[in-house]
Amino acid sequence: MNAQVLMKLALIPFVVALAGCYREVSFKTDVHPILEARCISCHSPGAPGCVASGFSVATYQSVMKGTRYGHVVIAGSSAASTLVRLINHEADPSIAMPKSHTPGAPSEWLTPDQIKVIQEWIDQGAKDN
Ligand code: HEC
Repeated sequence: MNAQVLMKLALIPFVVALAGCYREVSFKTDVHPILEARCISCHSPGAPGCVASGFSVATYQSVMKGTRYGHVVIAGSSAASTLVRLINHEADPSIAMPKSHTPGAPSEWLTPDQIKVIQEWIDQGAKDN
């Protein structure tokens, strides 16, 4: 065995360790706290965003139900999910989320990490976990 082969063999544990970085995102402990901090003030029954669109983030079931016009989370595809388009500001600016609490002011973005958590949760199947 030459030195190059030995080097390659030595790398295997690192590659395996990196693959082990896959972590399942939890709705309960990762996603819902973000929605509670940034969305629920407007998106729970009786609040303005929920009254206007029918979308409540109060429970897993209401998140999956979507607006009165249809789903905003498509399990397995963050790219097809309206919710992700809104938080990435890819839709009309007037409905970029989270909307500001100051009427007319631009949306106050989620952090890139928060957006990533929501995308990963959807891509991993949007589970009730
Ligand atoms: C300050 C209030 C407010 C906050 C905070 C807010 N929203 Fe909204 N949201 C609204 C309003 C009002 C509407 C109805 C559309 C409109 O009138 O702009 C809406 C509509 C929506 C819709 C439906 C859009 C459609 O296609 O009809 C979704 C989905 C949504 N919001 C998701 C979110 C998410 C996710 C968050 C948190 C990251 C959030 N919103 C935070 C007020 C808010």
